[in-house]
Amino acid sequence: MKTKLLVTRKLPQAVERRAAASYDAILNEEDRQYAPAEMVQKAAGMEGILCTVTDDFSAGVIAKLPASVRVLATFSVGYDHIDVAAAQARGITVTNTPDVLTGATADITMLLLLGAARRASEGEALMRQDAWQGWAPTHLMGTEVSGKRLGIMGMGRIGQAVARRARGFDMRIHYSDAVRRELPAELEATFHPDADAMLPQCDFLALHVPLLPETRGWLNAARLARLPKGAIVVNSSRGPVVDDAALIAALKSGHIAAAGLDVFTGEPRANPGYRALPNTFLLPHLGSATIETRTAMGNRALDNLDAFTAGKRPPDLVS
Ligand code: DGY
Repeated sequence: MKTKLLVTRKLPQAVERRAAASYDAILNEEDRQYAPAEMVQKAAGMEGILCTVTDDFSAGVIAKLPASVRVLATFSVGYDHIDVAAAQARGITVTNTPDVLTGATADITMLLLLGAARRASEGEALMRQDAWQGWAPTHLMGTEVSGKRLGIMGMGRIGQAVARRARGFDMRIHYSDAVRRELPAELEATFHPDADAMLPQCDFLALHVPLLPETRGWLNAARLARLPKGAIVVNSSRGPVVDDAALIAALKSGHIAAAGLDVFTGEPRANPGYRALPNTFLLPHLGSATIETRTAMGNRALDNLDAFTAGKRPPDLVS
């Protein structure tokens, strides 16, 4: 008998086909986001749940899941939407999908960096409104990225992929992390054990830390003030790593020249202050959104489920 699997969102076709072939799978054709109560109902009789970052598996929800649920395989590298300790306490295995989205997310970071630095939102708005008055020597002058210092907060897989790309743009790499990383010499990356001491060295700052109690609100008013005037901030990690009110104030004052943001507190809503500013370049959490990467993420989640149901250790075991 096939294992019963709840797939909480619509997934790329190839992934749904594989899920339907290997499991007694309940798919979500409408791609409707389930509220916690409905999720608990849908989980009745399920052994596995293939979930995503939009699903709330906080302790209260996990406590109400039926006893049949043995594994939560998230279609994401981040798992801050899952209370891992609560899952562990109930004997529910949690897996994620690292590696496969590294390149796509690093690409989005470069898009944010260039989009913010080169005033892409303002330029695009002019074209869409048919309001361009013609080429002018001083029109929409942005900031060059070449030769500038890029501070990377969090030098894990994605941070390193960003560093490699940024070197291709002749940027100078600085980074901070809990530990010094073994990095290829050609990155010529300068390690700062103290992130606060790195900030004054950053013309650009890219955030690549997971959302943890210690990173929530990390980029606050005090840290923004440590960045040089005119610095540019980009975030493709998790929205709550940034204190929105502080960043909006710094963008308004001009201390921060521009921000490129792909993630927001309270998604899918974002602080309206960002929309009102011309110097923001905003994307709706598109970091991993390529057909290749989303298919690879689905296959990785299914690889984890296959291993779990075969009684083996899933390759991407979180807990
Ligand atoms: C993740 O995987 O954590 C991303 O935020 C969604 O792709």
